[in-house]
Amino acid sequence: MPTPASPSASAPAEPGSPRHSDLVRAARRQPVTRTPVWFMRQAGRSLPEYRAVREGIPMLESCMQPELVTEITLQPVRRHGVDAAIFFSDIVVPLKAIGVDLDIVPGVGPVVAQPIREARDLDRLVDLTADQVPYITEAVRLLVDELGPIPLIGFAGAPFTLASYLVEGGPSKNHVQTKALMHGDPELWDALCAKLAQISGAFLRVQAQAGASAVQLFDSWVGALSRADYVRHVQRHSAAALDAVRHLDVPRIHFGVGTGELLRLMGEAGAEVVGVDYRVSLTDAVARLGPDYAVQGNLDPALLFAPWEALERRVREIVEEGRQAPGHIFNLGHGVLPEVDPDVLTRVTALVHEVSAR
Ligand code: CP3
Repeated sequence: MPTPASPSASAPAEPGSPRHSDLVRAARRQPVTRTPVWFMRQAGRSLPEYRAVREGIPMLESCMQPELVTEITLQPVRRHGVDAAIFFSDIVVPLKAIGVDLDIVPGVGPVVAQPIREARDLDRLVDLTADQVPYITEAVRLLVDELGPIPLIGFAGAPFTLASYLVEGGPSKNHVQTKALMHGDPELWDALCAKLAQISGAFLRVQAQAGASAVQLFDSWVGALSRADYVRHVQRHSAAALDAVRHLDVPRIHFGVGTGELLRLMGEAGAEVVGVDYRVSLTDAVARLGPDYAVQGNLDPALLFAPWEALERRVREIVEEGRQAPGHIFNLGHGVLPEVDPDVLTRVTALVHEVSAR
């Protein structure tokens, strides 16, 4: 199999290659043929074909089987005709790979056996290297082969969001232990986040080097912080993770939930695209971000349950708002909910394509 090329950013992409796709072009604020669309959590429980192949296989185990990862990643691409595949894995996979004792509990999320609270707990976090995740490299290569011109988006969890799971020991609403550590022992917090930045960055780099055409850093829960705390305790660590792929010619998307106040700071951390959740309009997001960033978003996932007329109106508005952005990738404001009728996603994809065709 040929090694995926990493041409310099200035090298012209050959037409028909994922580097020339509307998704990558929108991320780079270049002209597109139509607004590219994909959905966070497009692979997963909303699809009966996903539930069928996952039957009896625990989540983390499924992430370590390259053929299964390939099949699950391709399912929504085949079904919906979206403009990108999102690699099927999880933000805690690299932590599992370095030996952290954790599991993904159905209906709950990641649960960590021994939460990280003091300095000696950091010894459990060693650097991530590519040879610890051979199944990731293999799955990305299989996928890039299968996908042809369609780009694959690799991803990782950002240091704050990963830290939240490690410090709380599981999903958390108020992040009290995380904030207590951040403010009570800023040096330990920094040391923890520096380690997580290495792990996130290496996870992104493995995927980009194996052929992913773009990456997304998920800082899902960082909207829990003020701007001041983001600058003081988080931004440089997210920047370090994003910096790990700066020279690999892959646009970087930086997303979080409830991050309206942080959009600019998240862009400045080193992203080409800033993900916008549904609480801030794309128009406001563009006003806050200025001309240097493309935006991704931002249909409220709950609207997928509304009558088609209401949903259609909102999709058209978002496409229209997106035209004012320097680049726009259509997505939800957060992940697809498992109960959604997948046919609605197919219909939304077609509608975005139809109304945005140039
Ligand atoms: O389609 C895709 O988006 C690709 C794969 C993907 C998964 N997790 C698969 C998954 C991605 C990009 C993620 C990222 C992820 N994982 C995030 C960031 C994105 C976000 O939603 O904000 C976070 C916070 C996690 C942690 C996590 N893992 C949660 C909260 C859950 C859900 C728990 C549940 O059961 O409700 C998981 C498990 C998980 N990761 C599932 C999937 C498809 C569901 C498990 C299953 O299908 O058995």
